[in-house]
Amino acid sequence: MKILAIESSCDETAAAVVEDGRKVISSVIASQVEEHKLYGGVVPEIASRRHAEAIVPVVSQAVEDAGLTLDDIDAIAVTYAPGLIGALLVGVNFAKGLSLSTKIPLVPVHHLRSHIASNYISNKDLKPPFMCLVVSGGHSHIVMVNDYTDMKIIGKTRDDAAGEAFDKAARTMGMSYPGGIELDKVAENGNPLAFKLPRPVVHDAPYDFSFSGLKTAVINLIHNAAQKGQELNKADVCASFRYAVVDCLVTNFLKAAEDFEVKTLVIAGGVSANSLLRSTLEKRCAELGYKFYMPDKSLCGDNAAMVGSQGYYEYQKGNIANSGLNAYATKNIEEG
Ligand code: KG4
Ligand code: ZN
Repeated sequence: MKILAIESSCDETAAAVVEDGRKVISSVIASQVEEHKLYGGVVPEIASRRHAEAIVPVVSQAVEDAGLTLDDIDAIAVTYAPGLIGALLVGVNFAKGLSLSTKIPLVPVHHLRSHIASNYISNKDLKPPFMCLVVSGGHSHIVMVNDYTDMKIIGKTRDDAAGEAFDKAARTMGMSYPGGIELDKVAENGNPLAFKLPRPVVHDAPYDFSFSGLKTAVINLIHNAAQKGQELNKADVCASFRYAVVDCLVTNFLKAAEDFEVKTLVIAGGVSANSLLRSTLEKRCAELGYKFYMPDKSLCGDNAAMVGSQGYYEYQKGNIANSGLNAYATKNIEEG
């Protein structure tokens, strides 16, 4: 079964053709990040306009690259929630129009579910049940994936998402949006023990995260040093901050896995590209005898291939939308 997938939840307009949920036939991503860099973050109004401009060429390119025509497509999958509402609406309305005019069934896909599904493309043997740490720019969840379309949130952030904390810390150090990637690179040459940073815990909720205090601590460290005219070693600050964030993520994730007696662990989302998170979990899972899976780095960020993968499983489950489909800025992953 061939699915044409469309993604426009944030600042990437993407389309892909995916076969049977696991094989990517084509994947096109038009990123707007260079433009948003000028403003230090995503400007929703600009994002919507750029999606509207890019959607037709990007979708056409994906079908062409696959060597197919729309006659070969069995379903159209589209990200419908959560994300920037104006951005989502571009993809959803385009997909609805295409579905209506071609009579190809329309499949709505939850953005975080699709991040999890990026693992089905990278790891052909991976099947639910497993526990997944979903860490992106907008979310930090520990999710029990009972089945492809049956999920339960075990823990989540009470304030900032991990990616958001990375980006804000990076911005304070003068790195351009989204700074998480550069912070990760700079941290490679630093000492993670150079600065003592807090490991915030949420009282009575051992699987929940809180990153805003940690983010404020590193920002205060940088500002205080600047006021005193001191120069901090940037690599050491990056390494200490990265270590603190990864420590919080790994500690809660492994505790959840132990308490729920799950031995297959998976990571997903933009922050799952983080080198320390990947290497730490790889090492700890090997020590504990757990199976550990992660997406290829190229599939960690927003893309449409992952939407085509999850779309396949949603379709199998009979999750078909009609022209009444709407987009939602927020939506619980459990509802799909
Ligand atoms: O999943 P994603 O592409 O978009 C959302 O759905 O939010 O995640 C983007 C986030 C950004 O905050 C970005 O800085 C972060 O993922 N990110 C990283 C790395 N690569 C991307 N954070 C830390 N280390 C990385 N290597
Ligand atoms: Zn995302």
